[in-house]
Amino acid sequence: MKKEAKKASKYVAREPNEEGFIEYSDIEHQTWQRLIERQLDVLPGRACDEYMHGLELLDLPTDRIPQLEEVSSVLRRETGWEVARVPALIGFETFFGLLADRKFPVATFIRTPEEFDYLQEPDIFHEIFGHCAMLTNPAFANFTHKYGQLGLKASPKERAYLARLYWFTVEFGLLNTADGLRIYGGGILSSPKETLYALSNQPERFDFDPVTALRTPYRIDIVQPIYYVLNSLQQLQELTEIDLMAKVQEAIDMGLFEPRFPPKDAA
Ligand SMILES: [Fe+2]
Repeated sequence: MKKEAKKASKYVAREPNEEGFIEYSDIEHQTWQRLIERQLDVLPGRACDEYMHGLELLDLPTDRIPQLEEVSSVLRRETGWEVARVPALIGFETFFGLLADRKFPVATFIRTPEEFDYLQEPDIFHEIFGHCAMLTNPAFANFTHKYGQLGLKASPKERAYLARLYWFTVEFGLLNTADGLRIYGGGILSSPKETLYALSNQPERFDFDPVTALRTPYRIDIVQPIYYVLNSLQQLQELTEIDLMAKVQEAIDMGLFEPRFPPKDAA
């Protein structure tokens, strides 16, 4: 998820050259390689089957940052999605508008080696490796599309609630499977630390319920104290078929839960 920036990003998204090709430095390609190899080591048995299947379809390069069209051509074929190049930070309006158009925003920069383990701004590794494999799954793809459509029409207050639903599904969602607990959220799948932590006995995990997720506060700069668990990705499809804005209104009427974490300034 990208939000309007309180301060400017230190990163600048790369522009394509005249042939539409985006060039990156050797160090940037190496960063991608180190990130993807590390994640590919930890994801088997932890990421859900649908994600692993999506990765196979994408067939991402491990030794260089992929060009966006390589990813788009697979997504277009599978679910009618594509990725769209955006600046490092975009506003809600742009974000929701792209999703409503089945375009997943990708800022074409990669983290510096100094921020190898963690950065708050979503870079191309997070967006492509974290999210695009799941976008080959129809239920996930349809839910993300619906989220964009609803967000585009929503008021600022409704958007703040909708953002929590996105957070606890697309970014930090877990899935119960016959083989055990698995991950489908891109915020977890692009972080080796959180991949291990999310499935450990440290965090609290609850069955997913849309109103509960809408009412749960979160912080973007810590590992999550709470995760919500789907029993099937079909639940995401079902969210596209109900009156989700009525659920948002219900959540607004009931208000937010108490945070399970200290306020940012006191942390
Ligand atoms: Fe994300």
